Amino acid sequence: MFPSVGALLLLLLCPGPSHGRSPQIRSEALKRLLEVFGMEDAPQSPVATRQPPQYMLDLYHTVTGADGVTKQPELLLGNTVRSFLDRARNQRLEFFFNLSSVAKSETILAAELHLFKLRGRLSQDLRQHRHLFCQVYDWTQNKESNKGLLVIVQTLAGHKLHNYIRFATGRDHHSSKHPMVVLFTDDERRGTATFTSRETPFIREVTLHDKASQSRNTRSANLLGCLRYPLYVDFEEIGWSGWIISPRGYNAYHCKGACVFPLGQNMRPTNHATVQSIINALKLTKGVATPCCIPDKLFSINLLYFDDDENVVLKQYDDMVAGSCGCR
Ligand SMILES: *[C@@H]1O[C@H](CO)[C@@H](O)[C@H](O)[C@H]1NC(C)=O
Repeated sequence: MFPSVGALLLLLLCPGPSHGRSPQIRSEALKRLLEVFGMEDAPQSPVATRQPPQYMLDLYHTVTGADGVTKQPELLLGNTVRSFLDRARNQRLEFFFNLSSVAKSETILAAELHLFKLRGRLSQDLRQHRHLFCQVYDWTQNKESNKGLLVIVQTLAGHKLHNYIRFATGRDHHSSKHPMVVLFTDDERRGTATFTSRETPFIREVTLHDKASQSRNTRSANLLGCLRYPLYVDFEEIGWSGWIISPRGYNAYHCKGACVFPLGQNMRPTNHATVQSIINALKLTKGVATPCCIPDKLFSINLLYFDDDENVVLKQYDDMVAGSCGCR
């Protein structure tokens, strides 16, 4: 069975006799972690060589808090936003967007074409037209001879302006003004958790630092009951800081502690867990363990990164952060 994200991260991050861990296990674990992030191989584009489009940075900061956790999960149409900068090489008035990095399994939900109109060139006569009408035609017939998009700019009265209107190009203008296509897609990747997030006022949480929590032995953790502890996933430590723009890491948290009778409301037990703890305490049936201390509410995180083609991608991953812990 595929291990949970939490189990994988623990395997990667728990300090321990590292000299006893084989390089095979490490590479297998990193491969599985990439799979959690929906990738077969780590992208090769180095972050340092390119400036991400401001639009993508702004979008990331709108949907994501400082900790990398999604603050507005419903804001994006799907779970992926891909940006494509113009790659045209010739001097003609033409833009080229290479969309080949869109996976076959991805459904395109919406698309935007970002063009920046340059100042000037308009005669006094045309300049009084404060509102211009921009039409974008998409080439859908005869896809084999794809001629891309045709952009027509007119005055509201219908005068075509293509001899007067110019757009910034990727070659000649500042990087923030590059022509760009933005695709909002969904890759059907969903969290597998089926927890109901029952809000209760009893979320208990300790913010012990990792060292302190590790030095506590299991017995004292048991006395505290089922609690949420920090578990920082550092992308630099994992070796992913080369292609991830933001965040540098995130707190996934982990749940630890015993779920022994009597389970108070602060342990957020299900009725099933309460009954199981009672059966365990009464030793009515052999072989019944205490319930498990696990995340009972999970949050998503967002990643902003460069893919193999140096396009900036924003992705949302469900069920990555333990929001609270409970006995289940
Ligand atoms: C588009 O990008 C892919 C992947 O980088 C590349 O293999 C392909 O040649 C590109 N297509 C064009 C027309 O440049």
